Amino acid sequence: MSSALMANYGHPELQFEHGQGVYLYTADQQRYLDFTAGIAVNCLGHCHPHLVKAIREQSERLWHTSNLFSNIPTERLAQRLVDLSFADRVFFANSGTEAVECGFKMMRRYHYHHGRKQRVRIISLTQSFHGRTLAPIAACLNPLHTEGFLVGDSGFDQVPFGDLQALRAAITEQTAGVILEPVQGEGGIRAVAVDYLKAVRQLCDEHGILLMFDEVQSGMGRTGHLFAHEALGVTPDLLASAKGLGGGFPIGACLSIEKVAEVMTAGTHGSTFGGNPLATAVGNAVMDYISDPAFLQTVQQRSARLRAGLDVLIQQYPTVLAEHTGLGLMVGLRCTCSNADLIKAFMQVKLLAVKAGGNSIRLLPPLNISESEIDEALALIKAACDSLS
Ligand SMILES: Cc1ncc(COP(=O)(O)O)c(C=O)c1O
Repeated sequence: MSSALMANYGHPELQFEHGQGVYLYTADQQRYLDFTAGIAVNCLGHCHPHLVKAIREQSERLWHTSNLFSNIPTERLAQRLVDLSFADRVFFANSGTEAVECGFKMMRRYHYHHGRKQRVRIISLTQSFHGRTLAPIAACLNPLHTEGFLVGDSGFDQVPFGDLQALRAAITEQTAGVILEPVQGEGGIRAVAVDYLKAVRQLCDEHGILLMFDEVQSGMGRTGHLFAHEALGVTPDLLASAKGLGGGFPIGACLSIEKVAEVMTAGTHGSTFGGNPLATAVGNAVMDYISDPAFLQTVQQRSARLRAGLDVLIQQYPTVLAEHTGLGLMVGLRCTCSNADLIKAFMQVKLLAVKAGGNSIRLLPPLNISESEIDEALALIKAACDSLS
């Protein structure tokens, strides 16, 4: 298929014409079970009626004003995020990478504001993924993402995932803060250990530096909690959210405690589209579901059903599957065969999933998936494993 698009995504073979719930359809009505959910974005599936209604109603009322003016859905979504989380303030952006960028800027500005101008460096973990703008790629140092793009030292110090001694040793009088994903996504669906996370929190407090969680992928109900760190019992100072927050409409958010947010005085940061009322109207509609503890409970039940089925398949197909990882419906499938081969086999049976690091595959279904759809996915995974073993 010839395309006027740049080739940075390669050349996707599949094109979808419409989606409904957990299914995607090609123009010739081929139906695929979508366990990518737009890479953890379509948390209520495709074209959920409540989200469709919200965007339709908002589109007839107000699309955009810029941040020269306040608007109702944006104020409401910020308040709801604050009411339900550790945070006191919210900045709205349009994507995950911008939410992360905002957090990086806030870390530096916080110390600058308090006269600690040398505290500019940020510690990150290996195999992390924080986005594709310059600061996030500098934080992650994945050669595939950095080659030909970075100039000099961008102010990040990377330490091995889960290695507390290395993190302690990396803290200097120049350190502003630490960023990590409580559950790594692209890196291969790995949750950090609770003891490690608690120790990192303590180290940050001892050194007066800030702790930021990137919950762009793990947040908004994906793990059966509003944010994954709630399951791990450790609270950050800053948090990046995006993906599921808009259920498919582009939005990002940087959440912060007051003592850091207060340094972001008028003019320090901004975005033309951030806090766009169309985006936040959809965000509020997503919140109507995700904020319900009963909904989050169901996510955990669906996760248990999926994982119980995967346990059986791991026993049955040891030459294909090694283990499942992650929390809730953020499921990693570590492969014994090549993950690329398994993705291809999934495609043959019309199941869509996402590749990740550590030779694994991500299963990221919509959070409102039914029990029978979980069972259908398990049957397709079994068929794919059969074809490879
Ligand atoms: C943990 C994490 N952070 C940041 C990002 C970047 O988000 P976006 O692609 O919306 O900029 C992603 C995207 O996959 C992510 O998984």
